[in-house]
Amino acid sequence: MSVLKNKRILITAGPTREAIDPVRYISNHSSGKMGYAIAEAFLKQGAKVVLVSGPVNIQLQHPNLKLIPVTSAFEMYVACNFHFMETDIAIFAAAVADYKPEIVAEKKIKKAGDEILIKLVKNPDIAFEFGKIKRDNQLSIGFALETNDELINAESKLRCKNFDMIVLNSMNDAYATFEYDTNKVTIIQKDLVSKEFPVKNKTEVAVDIIKEIASIIMQRQFYSSQVIDTSF
Ligand code: CTP
Repeated sequence: MSVLKNKRILITAGPTREAIDPVRYISNHSSGKMGYAIAEAFLKQGAKVVLVSGPVNIQLQHPNLKLIPVTSAFEMYVACNFHFMETDIAIFAAAVADYKPEIVAEKKIKKAGDEILIKLVKNPDIAFEFGKIKRDNQLSIGFALETNDELINAESKLRCKNFDMIVLNSMNDAYATFEYDTNKVTIIQKDLVSKEFPVKNKTEVAVDIIKEIASIIMQRQFYSSQVIDTSF
């Protein structure tokens, strides 16, 4: 996959944590394994990777890797903002918390009464924001984790966030998604052609994903070389 050599890649990975008070937060079960496996697969192809990662238990070091650890969705957005303009391919693999507590208590919230209400407000939708400013020479790839109406929901995310490709995980597939080392994905292209893959190790899934990305780049190069110069 020589087309990926020296490409500048931006990857979001892992969960985000949204603080409630100094000792509590809202988060999700994302392990970050898929995003890190994609980072490794790109590094093996000679790409340069910026990995903006929520809190995970994975170590990854490489001379061509810049790891930016973040905690909240807002921090993830700010870190991506620094790098998006000089990115060739952005992969939004993080499980970003869509909402955060409106107010973060300065001190630990003490137990009182039978109920507690925490008002949540919207976080930035990182993929959506960069989808609005994406240039024609940039690719953006998203993920969709769905429990129902999987294809319909994934296709609608692909359009809404201006992705060039989306990787669908279904929560209904055994041995796929959070915590597991395996995953089962369906890859949907911008023209809505979809390809279903069998259950595989996340390292192998990452290779399938970057192969699909390489083929989009090769197709684009082929079509741009076919453009006839009518200027004379
Ligand atoms: N995403 C993001 N920022 C967010 C929410 C999602 O960058 N605040 C990205 C994810 O990394 C993923 C894609 O958008 O690539 C879809 O994420 P998902 O959580 O499946 O979709 P949502 O848009 O949050 O919709 P919902 O939770 O309602 O399914």
